[in-house]
Amino acid sequence: MYKIIDGKAHSKGLRQEIAEGVIEYKQRTGKDIGLAVVLVGNDGASQVYVRNKIKGCEEVGIKSFAYYLPAESSQDQVEELVKELAANDAVNGILVQLPLPKGLDEQKILSLIPVSKDVDGFCESNMGNLCMNRPCLVACTPNGVMKMLEREGIEIRGKNAVVVGRSNIVGKPMAMLLLNADATVTVCHSKTKNLKEICAGADILVAAIGRAKYITADMVKDGAVVIDVGMDRDENGKLCGDVDFENVKDKCSYITPVPGGVGPMTITMLLFNTLAAAKRSL
Ligand code: GUN
Repeated sequence: MYKIIDGKAHSKGLRQEIAEGVIEYKQRTGKDIGLAVVLVGNDGASQVYVRNKIKGCEEVGIKSFAYYLPAESSQDQVEELVKELAANDAVNGILVQLPLPKGLDEQKILSLIPVSKDVDGFCESNMGNLCMNRPCLVACTPNGVMKMLEREGIEIRGKNAVVVGRSNIVGKPMAMLLLNADATVTVCHSKTKNLKEICAGADILVAAIGRAKYITADMVKDGAVVIDVGMDRDENGKLCGDVDFENVKDKCSYITPVPGGVGPMTITMLLFNTLAAAKRSL
């Protein structure tokens, strides 16, 4: 029998804890916690994400500052805004929604976000500290996966964990987090040989590939914990994950659905990181 890991329920519980933390911070300091969200251009998916991030802030009592810049904005204009936010004491966290429109130098813009306000955990210092297992701000999606595993009471120490995908945003930080939690970690990607065999040895399998239903039942060990980070569309245009959920679920001890699994945790972890960033700057 498998158990579905309910990301919405975990997210709700965690948001309550964050809201309490925000109240405590305000009582202690007399100050609000602020998150600046920068959206350049009019990508539809990014607009939805940004709207949900702002709604999340309201829900837990974090003040949000939203900046909508036109797609034709120059590198200098975006850089100027990020520099202003970096210097603004009312802003504890800065999030520049990605992808940025073509022609803008994403790395250069992200590098202007101070480490202490990098609530996405994307900058080199935060990534480096994660590798060294030191305190840092951790990318929201992999951090959300860890929170779900923790809240489910799933043991990680000594387990074989396989991460499929090596992006800077998900795969790499995910692998580091699992390693820091004492798992034996294998990272697979598009050039990996024997992907099926490696996945089939996983006690904890994290799929972050970006291909609909790519992980099939023959790639999953009996009793595995399967975490699906994918947000894909199936042949009928319906939202689905990287895991062939219907055929895989019966082999699992735990599995996350799409939608309703990892997705709801990502924005919650952004709120978590914003509170953490504020507390660390005291
Ligand atoms: N675009 C897609 N996911 C993310 C994310 O986690 N953070 C930012 N800033 N942009 C994104």
